[in-house]
Amino acid sequence: MQAVKHFLQFKDLTREEFEYIFERAKFIKARFKNYQTYHPLLDRTLAMIFEKQSTRTRLSFEAGMHQLGGSAIYLNTRDTQLGRGEPVEDAAEVISRMVDIVMIRTFEQDIIERFAQHSRVPVINGLTNEYHPCQIMADIFTYIERHGCIKGKTVAWVGDSNNMCNTWLQAAVVLDFNVHVSTPPGYEVEPERAGLYDTSHYESFADPMDACRGADLVTTDVWTSMGFEAENEERKRDFQDWQVDAEMMAIAAPDALFMHCLPAHRGEEVAAEVIDGSQSVVWDEAENRLHTQKALMEYLLLGKIA
Ligand code: CP
Ligand code: NVA
Repeated sequence: MQAVKHFLQFKDLTREEFEYIFERAKFIKARFKNYQTYHPLLDRTLAMIFEKQSTRTRLSFEAGMHQLGGSAIYLNTRDTQLGRGEPVEDAAEVISRMVDIVMIRTFEQDIIERFAQHSRVPVINGLTNEYHPCQIMADIFTYIERHGCIKGKTVAWVGDSNNMCNTWLQAAVVLDFNVHVSTPPGYEVEPERAGLYDTSHYESFADPMDACRGADLVTTDVWTSMGFEAENEERKRDFQDWQVDAEMMAIAAPDALFMHCLPAHRGEEVAAEVIDGSQSVVWDEAENRLHTQKALMEYLLLGKIA
């Protein structure tokens, strides 16, 4: 079988490829904002497999594929044979013979890796327990829109060392920036789980204020990710000092941005005055899922357009 390019982890693409995708996303976004039709993926079909809930990911992929001239099919575990134990390898063989590209949101990263090994078409990670590469791609595009290049900048991550944190850490290696991480004791980064071959781009801080000092971007995420709901009460106790508040934003760089992938819990991981404040770019991040994923799908299906 011919080698197929997938996007299962952030590090699956190079810095040059991201630079290309960000340029295309800018072009595609401008066309969209000007109500100009752009149909490079006419007649292509995207299958979207969801084993967890979603608002933004489903909408941005489905609308995005439609806007590129193709169509998208939504599948979930409840309605497909995957929910009744059909092996993921068999599902990959079948699904990838019927569509041109697949997006999956699932639990362990291993599931999507196994699917990709048996897929004839590109597979995109729409979130796993370990990674959320499409979100970080949109977040970095959002940073670039506001402040130019992210190279050499410092991102402060406050909270759980979850799929978002792991992906920021991988992105820092690929795009050469730094991450200051502060997690409560017991929730520290596990470099192997984060897929890090290079740990020189991040530093850990016991105190979240120290992580935020001078940062160019402050970001966080829910204390309890999907699939970990049984730990919710315990996490609420453990994370109470890791809320991004006005004091943390004040110690960051004066032009620092605040990001959150959403959905958010005001009064838990972020204070309302921060997420609803002037440094917050959360709505741009959400919108940019659409534009960057359109550029990603175009690239995985058509390669570089001259
Ligand atoms: N940020 C994000 O992936 O949102 P959804 O869970 O709504 O898709
Ligand atoms: N870390 C969160 C992100 C949701 C978009 C989760 O996995 O539930």
